[in-house]
Amino acid sequence: LHSFRAYSKFTEDDVRSALGSVCRKFAESELMPIASKLDKECQFPASQIQKLGSLGAMGILVPSDYGGAGLDTAALSIAVQEISRGCGGTSAIVNIHNALYADLISRFGSNDQKEKYLPNFVNGTHIGGFALSESASGSDAAGLQTTATATSCGFILNGTKAWVTNAKEAKAIIVFAVTNPQKRHRGISAFIVDIPSEGLVIGKNEDKLGIRASSTCDIVLQDTPVTRDNLLGEEGQGFKIAMSGLDCARIGIAAQAVGIAQAALDCATKYAYQRKAFGNPLLNFQAVQHRIARMATQLEAAKLMALSAAKARDCNPFCTKEASMAKLMASEAATFVTHNCIQILGGMGYVSDMPAERHYRDARITEIYGGVSDIQLTVIAEHVVRNYGF
Ligand code: CAA
Repeated sequence: LHSFRAYSKFTEDDVRSALGSVCRKFAESELMPIASKLDKECQFPASQIQKLGSLGAMGILVPSDYGGAGLDTAALSIAVQEISRGCGGTSAIVNIHNALYADLISRFGSNDQKEKYLPNFVNGTHIGGFALSESASGSDAAGLQTTATATSCGFILNGTKAWVTNAKEAKAIIVFAVTNPQKRHRGISAFIVDIPSEGLVIGKNEDKLGIRASSTCDIVLQDTPVTRDNLLGEEGQGFKIAMSGLDCARIGIAAQAVGIAQAALDCATKYAYQRKAFGNPLLNFQAVQHRIARMATQLEAAKLMALSAAKARDCNPFCTKEASMAKLMASEAATFVTHNCIQILGGMGYVSDMPAERHYRDARITEIYGGVSDIQLTVIAEHVVRNYGF
């Protein structure tokens, strides 16, 4: 990708499609053959992540000055979609790292922070994470309880973060904590926390339904010191940093859902072509054809919305409505398509010899993380109604 970019005659569209085709080939050769093993063994794809780093996929939105690919959200969407077709768990690692770690450091970090926390994180050596949720504040993100108490040289963090993707492997995590409890969301700040750090303990890896190649853990912070240099953005700006990161992550999750749905449609169609019933391939039956038609139509709509939200963000970073709509639509499409894939395969869809059941399990997270569908509906309604100016 880096050498491709060096030729100025190529447009951004050329570079995006080059990244897409590199990621597609990578997914087919390096992820599809091992996705089932990664899922069964909850195994982090370390060497694959390193290779994705060398292909430019771990710093898609990061400027080239810090070793990134210097591309846009449309490129992130295309890359995540292709990687997701190969392995839903790996695409979770890649999307969260890009959208909720690297891009946030890139946009809100000081020069020193970018120099310290980007180059080794975008070349595939290290992974980053994002710690916003807590056991009692998921949807109500502003209700978080972790505190950051100011000291003479920085802050002391105390609290427990939950559902932190990439926590087990991460070398740094963006942690959100309350610096001023009187100000509710305006009293939340963001900190870059090194792993390991004094008083920081990573909890057990959650035994998840899907995306099992990615780790998800609690992080306990007990009197964890953080220097003032590691405050990301301004004090009190944390909630807005988190929300703007989630806009990007939701677009990536929509792309992840599209990739999973594409893998399920591929699986169902190939099976229906090969498998015979009543003396005919399943594909000859109208009931199966109609299922495939509905699956492909949902997938196409999701693909268009995912890309359109990505392009909206590339024109205007305030793309909250588009991001939520794309995530809502694509995640429901992925659940629909993977459900129907299992129906077409019948018993073979229900056992782990075929990838259909994994696609179904992987799809479910896209309706949950990055904000459950009910929250996306709330966000969308608020923006739609606001446009009427009531
Ligand atoms: N970008 C920038 N600023 C934003 C914003 C955005 N997308 N959305 C809201 N804001 C700003 C608002 O403008 C407002 O600013 P002012 O202070 O100037 O008024 C401020 O933030 C507060 O906004 P709201 O009043 O809308 O905030 P709220 O408390 O009502 O919450 C919410 C809104 C949409 C429900 C929000 O809490 C939310 O998105 N919840 C879901 C959280 C979520 O997605 N969690 C997933 C966490 S990550 C995860 O899943 C694990 C992982 O590793 C992926």
